[in-house]
Amino acid sequence: MTLAFYGTTMTISFDRAADFYDNTRTLAPEVSERLTAEILRLGRATPDTTFFEPGIGTGRIALPIVERGYAYTGVEISEAMMDRLRQKLEGKAHQLTLINADATALPLDDNAFDVVIAPHILHLIADWQRAMDELRRVLKPARVFIYFHHPTNKTAARDAIGQQWREILSSYGYDSGFTGGVTEDVLGRLQEQGATLETVAVADLSRESTVDSLMRAYRDRIYSNMWRVPNDIYPQALADLEDWAAQEFPNTDVPMTSQDNITLTAAYHWAS
Ligand SMILES: C[S@@+](CC[C@H](N)C(=O)[O-])C[C@H]1O[C@@H](n2cnc3c(N)ncnc32)[C@H](O)[C@@H]1O
Repeated sequence: MTLAFYGTTMTISFDRAADFYDNTRTLAPEVSERLTAEILRLGRATPDTTFFEPGIGTGRIALPIVERGYAYTGVEISEAMMDRLRQKLEGKAHQLTLINADATALPLDDNAFDVVIAPHILHLIADWQRAMDELRRVLKPARVFIYFHHPTNKTAARDAIGQQWREILSSYGYDSGFTGGVTEDVLGRLQEQGATLETVAVADLSRESTVDSLMRAYRDRIYSNMWRVPNDIYPQALADLEDWAAQEFPNTDVPMTSQDNITLTAAYHWAS
């Protein structure tokens, strides 16, 4: 079971994704380059700047910063994801510290880091408010918290399949309702707590898909919202979705384009 309690918080470990995470979530080199440059600019980085990331994963965001020589600390509940990151740095000099710990209970001092980055993590944690309190605690006063998000213009087919999936799950008595902190929650809380926000659009990514490729993602259980569905209902729910899709979309190989807008929001004056 991937959805689990760590300490007292409910969250999602990516242990099962370690083998395919990089293949399904990689950013193109030029996007990664632009993202890194923006993080360093928003973080007003100097060679002494220290970085922290909860849920560091395989280092998709961290690695380019670590490779530039910065001191970077990451916590992660999945050893398998951290192992991938360790392999990428084998034989290289670096200042990366990895700790197996839960983002809602950080074994770290107050006011420890200059820049705290939260990419793709707060939506996975039921008690995301507590995770944010922890991030605020370890951030040095007058330094910067950077939130990574990507508003998506989904295609009509992707939306329709997602909606049908939720309806099928609900017909089997499964409530797909668990979510952690989504973008509006996080930005709202930062503002309530007095932060000044600066939002930067980093890149627009076009993603090509077909109904076939979307259905394959459900079959292969690629995304974390698919992992939580209990194994005893998954096969039948998937069969129902495939039957519905076959009727709804006669041409399952027509290419469709959706747009991801990779965005960073920097929060200044947040730490108390
Ligand atoms: C979607 S991945 C993002 C990884 C990386 N930040 C990136 O953007 O590629 C989320 C990661 O957070 C980890 N995670 C989930 N809940 C966590 C928690 N409560 N504390 C620490 N790590 C957590 C998962 O195991 C997973 O590796």
